[in-house]
Amino acid sequence: MSLKEIVENKTIKFILSGGKGGVGKTSCAGALALLSENQGLRTLVVSTDPAHSLSDSFDQNLSGGDPVPIEGVDKLWGMEIDTEKGMREFQDSIGEGAAGQDMAMASSLLGDVSGMAPPGSDEAMAFGKMLEFIEDASYDRVVFDTAPTGHTLKLLELPDLLDSWLGKMLTLRQRLSSMMTGLKSMFGGAEAEQSSWDMLQQTKDKIRMARIELSDPDTTQFVIVMIPEAMAVFETQRLLGSLNAWNIPVSNIIINQLVPENPNCPFCSKRHKMQQKNLEDIRDLYQDLNLTEVPLFENEIRGIEGLRKLGKVLMGEDTKE
Ligand SMILES: Nc1ncnc2c1ncn2[C@@H]1O[C@H](COP(=O)(O)OP(=O)(O)O)[C@@H](O)[C@H]1O
Ligand SMILES: [Mg+2]
Repeated sequence: MSLKEIVENKTIKFILSGGKGGVGKTSCAGALALLSENQGLRTLVVSTDPAHSLSDSFDQNLSGGDPVPIEGVDKLWGMEIDTEKGMREFQDSIGEGAAGQDMAMASSLLGDVSGMAPPGSDEAMAFGKMLEFIEDASYDRVVFDTAPTGHTLKLLELPDLLDSWLGKMLTLRQRLSSMMTGLKSMFGGAEAEQSSWDMLQQTKDKIRMARIELSDPDTTQFVIVMIPEAMAVFETQRLLGSLNAWNIPVSNIIINQLVPENPNCPFCSKRHKMQQKNLEDIRDLYQDLNLTEVPLFENEIRGIEGLRKLGKVLMGEDTKE
């Protein structure tokens, strides 16, 4: 499926852009969001990267923690996930005091029992918000601008981990009466224990649903953004490995910031040559994927106009600067 087909295919509900820092993820997410809106789709572009740059990219403040209408565009909303505000809301919702302690205990147990490093609160929060928008039917399309190296999507493995964790807890509970006291204090008595249990079940169900949606190539497409440099190739290999492990469909790589040939500039020519060499390797490595090449523009990509220009290149409409 080409980028154009992804944008035009109305069954695609989620587009995720990801890659190394600074390669152009946010710009591409913005451009793909504008193109989606242009198809008549009610579109939301969300940054889950704590190093937000969506506001800068759209040249508009999107940091309030709620979707903000993008100025000058009919059906496009943008939002940067405010992880700190999210954490506060979460702690308020589960009551004063012990929340932090319980969370710490739960994640250290999770870490111990499952062997998975407990996710940072930023990632957990971003993931929680992603779950919200995956359930939300008020948008036809949601474009996620993801964090470069985060585990955000690794949290899709949570249902299995929770199952095994809960299973092990039950066994422990049967075996060790002394553990009971610990568990009781953790959940705050039998009733609270039941509601914590229910909450975990609900969370598990939500994540299961999200996993089904995010692994369906007719619903979700992850677009990798990279630059033609060796370090970015290594990162792309790792990212692809993870996405495959989590069953997230990938069919496109955007190769960004290609330096044009310029015989009058030895520096540019050298960079051009280095990039072309890497480009050959990239074409070899990713024969099964669609590669879209994007030139390095004279100016930064900022504001609707810049993003639309990038969008044209992504659609294969304009290959010249
Ligand atoms: N093809 C390009 N030509 C010129 N500038 C670009 C290009 N792609 C990205 N940029 C600029 O590079 C910087 C980083 O891009 P951004 O999309 O924020 O990357 P990321 O989200 O991966 O960190 C921004 O200033 C952006 O305007
Ligand atoms: Mg970014």
